Amino acid sequence: MAVRLLRLTSRAGQPVAHGNLDTVPAQEETVLITGAAGLIGSMLRTRLVRPGRLLRLLDVVPLDAGFGEQAVTASTTDLAAMTRACSGAAAVIHLAGISREAPWDQIAEANIHGSYVAFEAARRAGVPRVVYASSNHAVGFTPRAAFPVADYAFPAPDTYYGVSKAAGEALGALYHARYGLDVICLRILTCMERPRDIRALSTWLSPDDAGRLFAACLSVPSPGFRVVYGVSANTRGGWVSLAEARAIGFEPQDDAEIYAEQVIAATGQADGEPAFLGGDFCLPDLDADRLT
Ligand SMILES: NC(=O)c1ccc[n+]([C@@H]2O[C@H](COP(=O)([O-])OP(=O)(O)OC[C@H]3O[C@@H](n4cnc5c(N)ncnc54)[C@H](O)[C@@H]3O)[C@@H](O)[C@H]2O)c1
Repeated sequence: MAVRLLRLTSRAGQPVAHGNLDTVPAQEETVLITGAAGLIGSMLRTRLVRPGRLLRLLDVVPLDAGFGEQAVTASTTDLAAMTRACSGAAAVIHLAGISREAPWDQIAEANIHGSYVAFEAARRAGVPRVVYASSNHAVGFTPRAAFPVADYAFPAPDTYYGVSKAAGEALGALYHARYGLDVICLRILTCMERPRDIRALSTWLSPDDAGRLFAACLSVPSPGFRVVYGVSANTRGGWVSLAEARAIGFEPQDDAEIYAEQVIAATGQADGEPAFLGGDFCLPDLDADRLT
């Protein structure tokens, strides 16, 4: 397959990123994944690859493209580069950003501005669908008494990070209502290789369930605007509604309980039920004065 070097430039014409983009046969479905070098992006690369699909991987961290992949090194805060990266895509999976609490200016730039750019680039390039990685921290201050947290529960962010996720959901609602994009916001709970603490025995989203969830987001016909929780079928779960997840065709299959003994022995923790959904993100450790 022929390989061409694509130079992505900012509006001002300054080179900002380079990517080795393979030629895309017309019949291929292209899916742009932003933040593809991260934890979830790495999980999805192996789980979303299939014949007739091209995964276009974008990150500020350079990536090596494998079979059925293209790599683009660019920032999601660069509208020109993102619009170019969206070209010809059937869907954008927007993962890129800061995935923890951080000072406001960093969160505002990477997560809020970066998400605006992702939606606007999708609109400009005519991409019909965006799957947005939101977070349980958009509703982190929901008290235990309100479990299971309802689908579409009004934002109750626990951090600036959580505010940025609520803002991304609001952008998704705007781009759906005004421009007709299909937008699925995934309020992911705890997605990692395996649960590491007692809370995660309730909130774990396994890599395979994550693969199934994002696959459902790509294949469900005409979803419109959705807010969906992403969590596995954990014995200690039930903290959030799974109705919308099931409505888009996702049925979780994994259960963190197989790691319970190990986690309890390693951490010495016994009670995993916090006062609020967001767990430690709700504690004073993340007050503004303590952020660096
Ligand atoms: N893993 C979880 O448990 C979890 C839970 C809820 C939500 N999320 C969200 O899912 C997404 C992916 O999470 P993750 O765990 O893989 O995070 P991660 O930190 O491992 O990966 C984030 C990726 O985004 C990239 N990135 C950051 N800023 C960028 C920019 N301006 N342009 C391009 N790339 C940029 C980083 O280089 C990194 O590769 C994040 O938005 C995160 O907030 C994750």
